[in-house]
Amino acid sequence: MIFRQLFEPVSSTWTYLLGCESTGQAMLIDPVLPAWQQNLSVIRELGLELALTLDTHIHADHISAAARLRRETGCRIAHPAIDGLACADVPVEEGAPLALGSLSIEPLFTPGHTDGHHAYRCADRLFSGDALLIDGCGRTDFQNGDPSALYHSVRDKLFTLPDETLVYPAHDYQGRRVSSIGQEKTRNPRLGGDRSLAEFEAIMAGLQLAYPRFIDFAVPGNRQCGVCPPDVPENLAQYCAQIGDSPQG
Ligand SMILES: [Fe+2]
Repeated sequence: MIFRQLFEPVSSTWTYLLGCESTGQAMLIDPVLPAWQQNLSVIRELGLELALTLDTHIHADHISAAARLRRETGCRIAHPAIDGLACADVPVEEGAPLALGSLSIEPLFTPGHTDGHHAYRCADRLFSGDALLIDGCGRTDFQNGDPSALYHSVRDKLFTLPDETLVYPAHDYQGRRVSSIGQEKTRNPRLGGDRSLAEFEAIMAGLQLAYPRFIDFAVPGNRQCGVCPPDVPENLAQYCAQIGDSPQG
């Protein structure tokens, strides 16, 4: 497998590039709009062709680059079927692996952060989206989030994978790149060890997180596979600009 981990700084998102060495096909998991050109240059430098984009969920903190990348390259857009996005080409669900050349990507329905969230497993790597972060997890207070569902998604599904499975999260705000199932099972302060559901629910209820600043634009934009709404205010324009763009005006 050809593999690259790509960072988008505006939303601290990790985007993952997976490529098949035999067919030259590439896929991007959770590509972010401001970085679409950078993502494509990496793919082209590697001599690959973008076949597919794949999102873990409807993001609230950034605009997906899926629609833009499809327009530029003719790639297909894969997205969890449960979200019912009319713009998606490939409906994704657990039990129906995606093929990328010789690679097989297994969707794992992991609701709780959102009600449609999926993680993806490819060989010994898990792309855990916002369900499981390094020493943390995604918030559960928007988008039909549900702490109980997240607890069961992580502990009953993701934590049953082999301990040596590498965990690649959708975000890290401290620059960390990778963990493992064994490590998260042991030391994740929210979900690891013998943490009970009641304790986890209390942790999530006590977080007192701020209202997500971009959610009112990101969610409608991402229901269209990544369109920047026309009314994005100046102070949020960085979410829609391309990295390297000169400032407007
Ligand atoms: Fe998210």
